[in-house]
Amino acid sequence: MTKNKPTIVLGIETSCDDTGIAVLKVSESKSKTNFEVLANEISSQTKLHEQYGGVFPAMAKREHAKNIVPLFIHALEKSKLLKKRKKTKSIDQKILLKLTKLLEREAEMLSVIVDFVQTYENPKIDKIAVTSGPGLEPTLWVGINFARALGFLFDIPVIPTNHMEGHILSVAIPEDKKFSISSSSFHFPLISLLVSGGHTELVLVKDIGKYTIIGATRDDAAGEAFDKVARMMDLPYPGGPKISQLAHEGRTTLAFSEFSLPRPMIHSGDFDFSFSGLKTAVLYTIRDMGGSLSDSRKKDLSREFEDAVVEVLITKTLKAAQRYGARAVVVGGGVSANQWLRSELLRRGKEFNRDLEIYFPTKQLSTDNALMITLAGYFKSQRTKKIPRTIKAEGNLKL
Ligand code: KG4
Ligand code: ZN
Repeated sequence: MTKNKPTIVLGIETSCDDTGIAVLKVSESKSKTNFEVLANEISSQTKLHEQYGGVFPAMAKREHAKNIVPLFIHALEKSKLLKKRKKTKSIDQKILLKLTKLLEREAEMLSVIVDFVQTYENPKIDKIAVTSGPGLEPTLWVGINFARALGFLFDIPVIPTNHMEGHILSVAIPEDKKFSISSSSFHFPLISLLVSGGHTELVLVKDIGKYTIIGATRDDAAGEAFDKVARMMDLPYPGGPKISQLAHEGRTTLAFSEFSLPRPMIHSGDFDFSFSGLKTAVLYTIRDMGGSLSDSRKKDLSREFEDAVVEVLITKTLKAAQRYGARAVVVGGGVSANQWLRSELLRRGKEFNRDLEIYFPTKQLSTDNALMITLAGYFKSQRTKKIPRTIKAEGNLKL
């Protein structure tokens, strides 16, 4: 029996405020695809943006540009793919010219990449997956330009990858370094609830690569609502984890709630969402309390707010599962880290239909990372006959 040579895929993620680089070793066997995570590195900018209460694209772009090459070298080292040249090699003028053109808008990256090429041998990578959208366009460009430069230098294809597809497929990655995916890993059709800082969507998934958005938010995303409400309560960015922690404390220490917030669009009959009215209701509640809240009221209001968001998300997800005859629900995106969403969806899902399977990514892979992009990019390369020659950042890229 001939053994297929494994494919090494490099993944790059820069859609928001986390720089991510991952390396996956993939081998196809008869009935399944086998994966080994060689590296999954992340450089978070949260601390930097925390002081401003949100992400500033220009600042985020600069941070990505500064961190991406060292993170790439670190990921190669972890993957045992980094090999120093015996002698420093001077770069060919033609190559330098083309590289300079490719990195026209990323001048600070040029010298570090040239340095890399002169110092290290070309690593054994077969393809590159890079997030091309959705996200912040200035930051997406950093990853794309870096990927294109590497694609040119190593003469390998670059696969533009949808960040949201990454969040959907993140549920297939366990804690272990080695895992497999076969046709029976996912029970199609499934409903995916995508909840992040920029998105709230319900997606009907008929197969890997076959996605239909059946509902979305008409205004704020769920994560955005968490972040904005946190700011109203003088809590740090990102707001989700902090509100969730206070809500938990509220649930365990307060017998009943003083507050009652709306459940927007819960019975709207479609699969759309709206969180901006809920956010305004929180604003008025705080105003009615004299503009600031005691610690105990912060816990109470966090609980009521989290209850409201989670109730709407779950009700619509289960209705969608029923309408489309889904066998499973998968949740992805930063808000999927929310413990209350997890426990309530499992509880209500079981009540609703004992056979409905419910999956979440590991906590680490709930928020942005390059591993999910590497996986999604690999599957995309398998189903795409012609990889496009040009890639551009698409802030509003749809599934
Ligand atoms: O997917 P993600 O890392 O980045 C985007 O693609 O947007 O999601 C970030 C969002 C932020 O809005 C953050 O507040 C929210 O996910 N988040 C949470 C929790 N952890 C992160 N929201 C609620 N509960 C959490 N535990
Ligand atoms: Zn995300």
